[in-house]
Amino acid sequence: SQPQQKRAPQPPASCKDCRENINKVLEVYAKAWKKQEESYLKFRSQLRSKCHGFEKATITQQNTPVGTKLVYDGEKKRTLQVNQEIFSTFFKELPFPNKTWHTCAVVGNGGILGNSSCGKEIDSADFVIRCNLPPLSNGYETHVGSKTDLVTANPSILMEKFGALMGRRRKFVESLRSYGHSLLLLPAFSFGRNTPVSLRALYTLEDFESPIRSIFFNPGYLQSLALFWRSQGLKTVRLSTGIIMTSLALELCDNVQLYGFWPFDVHPHSFQTLTNHYYDDRKTKTKFHAMPEEFNHLLMLHSQGVLKLHLGDCK
Ligand code: CDP
Repeated sequence: SQPQQKRAPQPPASCKDCRENINKVLEVYAKAWKKQEESYLKFRSQLRSKCHGFEKATITQQNTPVGTKLVYDGEKKRTLQVNQEIFSTFFKELPFPNKTWHTCAVVGNGGILGNSSCGKEIDSADFVIRCNLPPLSNGYETHVGSKTDLVTANPSILMEKFGALMGRRRKFVESLRSYGHSLLLLPAFSFGRNTPVSLRALYTLEDFESPIRSIFFNPGYLQSLALFWRSQGLKTVRLSTGIIMTSLALELCDNVQLYGFWPFDVHPHSFQTLTNHYYDDRKTKTKFHAMPEEFNHLLMLHSQGVLKLHLGDCK
C-alpha cells in the first residue's frame, strides 16, 4: 500500500485576514536573513536626523531646564511649565552611554512568545527592552528571559493594578523586583492624567530605595516619532509602545532583534491559536493602535536587513 503523505498544516478556516499575513511572512522567511549594513545605516540616520532619540527620547535636566513649556503629545492643547519641583525629579544627565550597544533585544508582549524557548537568546543581548511591566516569573523566563535594562509602564497599569498608587505602595515596589536595576520609562507628559501617577511612581521608588530609577519620555520626541512614521506611510492614531521602543533601539544599538511582535491570533508556523499577550488575552484597543499596519512596517525593515524580527521558536 502507498505510504500516507503528510499534509502540511493549514491555517484554520476561521482565520480570514491572517492568511494574507501568514503567506507574506512565509515568503519573507523563505530567504535567510542577513543584516544589510547600508540599509540599516540609512534608516538610522533618517531616524536620528528627524527624532534625535539619543539626546531627546527622555527628559533630563540638560534638555529640559526650569521654565520649559512641555507640550503633551497626546493632548496638544495641554502644556506644563517646568518648575523647580518637577525639574528636581528629572535625570541629571542622559541615561544612555555615548556609544551604541552591540545588540539590543526589544521584547513585545505577543502570545507568539509563549512557547518560544527564546529566554536565553533574549537574555544574551547587551541591552534588553521590555514593554508595560510584563510578568517574567512563574515559568515565563524560559520563553521571555529575565534580563531587563529598560522597561516601560503605561499609567493605566499603575491605575488598575496598583490603585493609582494612592494607598499602600509596597506591593508595587515588590512587584518591580523582577526588573533588577533597570530604568522605568513612563509617559508622564503624554496625557494630563498620566502626570500625577507617574510622579507618584517615581517618588515611591525613591522613598522605598528601590534600585529601579524612573525616567520620563520626552513628549517632543514622541511627537517627532509620530510624524516620522506618518511620513513613512504608517496610519495610526497613536504609536504602540513596541514600535516606539523599536525606533529608539534603532538609534541606540547596532543590531536590533525583535521578539513577541505578532499582532494576529494564529501562529504563522504551527497555525495554533494564540492569546494576544503571552500572559493574558486582553485585547489591544484598535481605536488607538494599528498594530497590523505597524507589523507590516517592521516586516519590511526585516526584509531590508535593518532589524531582525523573530517569529519562530529558539533552539
Ligand atoms: O501598550 P500597548 O498596548 O501598546 O502594548 P502591549 O499590549 O503591552 O504590548 C507591547 C508591544 O508588543 C505592543 O506595543 C506591540 O508593539 C507588541 N505586540 C505585538 O506585536 N503583538 C501582540 N499580539 C501584542 C503586542
